Amino acid sequence: MCGIIGYIGKRQAKDILIGGLRRLEYRGYDSAGLAVLNQAGLSVQKSQGKLGKLVNQLQSDQCIGNVGIGHTRWATHGIPSKTNAHPHYDSKEDIAVVHNGIIENFRHIKTSLEAAGRRFTSDTDSEVLPHLIGSFYKGDLLQAVKGALRQVEGNYAIAVISTHEPTRMVAARKGSPLVIGLGENEHLVASDVTAMLEHTNQVVYIEDDEIVDINMEDVRISTLAGEAIQRNAATVMWDISQVQKEGYPHFMIKEIMEQPSSLRQTISERIQSGRVVFPELEPLRECLGNPDEFNQIVFLGCGTAYHAGFVGKYMIEKFARIPATVDMSSEFRYSSPVLTPRTLVVAISQSGETTDTLAAVRYAKEHGAAAIAISNVVGSSITREVDVTINMYAGPEIAVAASKTYTSQLAVLSLFALYVANLRQPLDADSTETLLKDILQLPSHVEKVLTQASSIEHIAKRYSTFNHFLYLGRHINYPSALEGALKLKEISYIHAEGYPAGEMKHGAIALIDDDMPVVCIVSESEVHEKMLSNIQEVHARKGRIIAIATKGDLEIEALFQDTIYLPQIHEFASPILIAVAFQLFAYYVAAHRGLDVDQPRNLAKSVTVE
Ligand code: AGP
Repeated sequence: MCGIIGYIGKRQAKDILIGGLRRLEYRGYDSAGLAVLNQAGLSVQKSQGKLGKLVNQLQSDQCIGNVGIGHTRWATHGIPSKTNAHPHYDSKEDIAVVHNGIIENFRHIKTSLEAAGRRFTSDTDSEVLPHLIGSFYKGDLLQAVKGALRQVEGNYAIAVISTHEPTRMVAARKGSPLVIGLGENEHLVASDVTAMLEHTNQVVYIEDDEIVDINMEDVRISTLAGEAIQRNAATVMWDISQVQKEGYPHFMIKEIMEQPSSLRQTISERIQSGRVVFPELEPLRECLGNPDEFNQIVFLGCGTAYHAGFVGKYMIEKFARIPATVDMSSEFRYSSPVLTPRTLVVAISQSGETTDTLAAVRYAKEHGAAAIAISNVVGSSITREVDVTINMYAGPEIAVAASKTYTSQLAVLSLFALYVANLRQPLDADSTETLLKDILQLPSHVEKVLTQASSIEHIAKRYSTFNHFLYLGRHINYPSALEGALKLKEISYIHAEGYPAGEMKHGAIALIDDDMPVVCIVSESEVHEKMLSNIQEVHARKGRIIAIATKGDLEIEALFQDTIYLPQIHEFASPILIAVAFQLFAYYVAAHRGLDVDQPRNLAKSVTVE
């Protein structure tokens, strides 16, 4: 969590830092701050709350200079407040630091620095960094940062500036993302590339235990141990329009509406002449195809990504007939999972930075498993942990709530299941062909769901005052119910629970009354009849039903008024259409409640703490 940015060049740093922080705000928005170097020393401005508050309070003569750093915070140590906001600086106010991560041994360091006379002003772990760097400073900022980092345990991406060396910036990373943007006589440092897209598409990804010495002309990377690193710049394919709202009131609705094109990007290159192709899986192809090699697949992820993995489990078992399980990354390594060299872990992470997922993958690898990542951010941390990465190419997602990246994860997983299935056994031609056809048509099917936005909005408006919702689904759409409920919870702050419909009569049915809207997934499927019976059980107890059904389902039409209709589609592709309908529903409920859809309270998009 937290976003950091730094600029060194000839332009006013303030404007560039604020523009970058605006893009990074999805990483946390408890407070924001800037520190800029000028002849008077260090000009620091901070504010509790969102970046907008800082921008409003900044006077035109503050933070003037060509070298500066900025931060947007998701609080871990210390409440959200102005004092706990970054940048932090040392007692003499000559070294300033922005930090993303956690310094685990900060108490120990703080005690010894305080004993040496250093005065702390915040409750954060991060504040030890400027003091520690200050204590190592002997005329060379790079050496001082190196000395300090050798003392700290934990995770960090940092950017450091000092009044002693006003044309220099030092940055370093361990466990938190850091990227350098290369410009003409100017350089940027940031937590991710979206913060620098306006200025450059030439970037260098920094790896763990590396430190970067930056001035206007030059960027030098080395390891903490002192070994120089030569790394070529990568070209970022995203463009600036993808990180702007382009007339939409929120990023979330823009990203929901982008799904026909994001899905096209995810799918198009991967189906050729009626076959699924995954060139990136070539190194694992033999093991994937051989039942004597991989005999177990474990899907891992957090939140929405976990729900994608849950759908993946159904798909791989159905088509490839490989035993599969799904685990929340945060639980995985504490549950003594049985892993062998014949286990394949498939880790799903939009950002590729979720700490729990990174740790789960590391654990699996240490215990002999092979690992694949499905990620949306090229060069993200997870790509360095796994054997193979599948990029989903959904384009940048700014809203904290995942929408287009979830549907792209599902599309990748359905293709992955078919790919592995084909390597293992000739599949029932009919079902593969229909599924492949439907996957290819997903963009146009999704367009049809999107054309119902205003009727979904109408339903959402009527239900936006309820405080509890139940989402029911079965089989492959049980995870869809979980995801629908999560989406509503995170952006509308309404309590919602996803539940397997067949389990309801074992307890949850006691909750049903006319204050409890029940969203029922009753689209065409193997369990359609069973789902209908479960709906009747809710109906009989005066539950208010919102149904998700397949167009032309006359039984549902006759029974329920509040129905969202999906185009006819293969059952195993239906979670994608259902997800889109649920995203629209949650979006409109939250928007009608007047909530901050893109930046819901307490959340951050990349959860880089355990
Ligand atoms: C999604 O709407 C959530 N904001 C959240 O559950 C998210 O999916 C989760 O934190 C995992 O993130 P990742 O995909 O970047 O690993």
